[in-house]
Amino acid sequence: MQIRCNCRDLSFVGLLAYARRHGITDIEDLIKATGCCTGCGSCRPLLEELLRSGKLRVGDQLIDFPLPDDETAG
Ligand code: FES
Repeated sequence: MQIRCNCRDLSFVGLLAYARRHGITDIEDLIKATGCCTGCGSCRPLLEELLRSGKLRVGDQLIDFPLPDDETAG
């Protein structure tokens, strides 16, 4: 299960928290702000889904991806 942008060493939890804090709902805006998804690109569809639904795709399933209240980007 992929839970980070490995290429840029950014956790999905941190990225989602950052997006929520800054009102980002578009993947392109998150990419511009954080540099995520700018390596191999494998994380991009997962992050798009997370931004849209708050759920993480694992195979053909979408699972809840709760965000800790005190999580910070990184
Ligand atoms: S894992 Fe995010 S760009 Fe490679």
